[in-house]
Amino acid sequence: TTQRRGYHEKVIDHYENPRNVGSFLKTDKDVGIGLVGAPACGDVMKLSIKVNEDGIIEDVRFKTFGCGSAIASSSYMTERVKGMTLEQAGQIKNTEIAQELCLPPVKLHCSMLAEDAIKSAIKNYRSKREATGNRAAGHI
Ligand code: FES
Ligand code: FES
Repeated sequence: TTQRRGYHEKVIDHYENPRNVGSFLKTDKDVGIGLVGAPACGDVMKLSIKVNEDGIIEDVRFKTFGCGSAIASSSYMTERVKGMTLEQAGQIKNTEIAQELCLPPVKLHCSMLAEDAIKSAIKNYRSKREATGNRAAGHI
């Protein structure tokens, strides 16, 4: 009853009204960017997070060149991680996303892109922080 063209209505909703589309400037020091691809299909997802002094994700944007499930997964991910700590966001599993969006097994890798993207954005943010810290301390 909630299916249309084989997609669950939550996927359709995120696909037709994607939340938080866009990206932040990668040169901003409070920004982390994750850019990942799915080898299986070539789809690409870019997730940008803006992190405040307390390590909380204040804002988030995505750009996804991919299928409906990948767009829905990334859109859902942006809603999910807003307000979370980096630790919390890094623990989100693609299976939770797949379950929430009722993705079929063949679309599991689409949700994996979203998990990979947030992890990669967090890693990018942290490595930038370390680099900045080292510079401030005169190590570079
Ligand atoms: Fe797999 Fe996106 S290429 S549908
Ligand atoms: Fe490859 Fe969806 S991300 S088919």
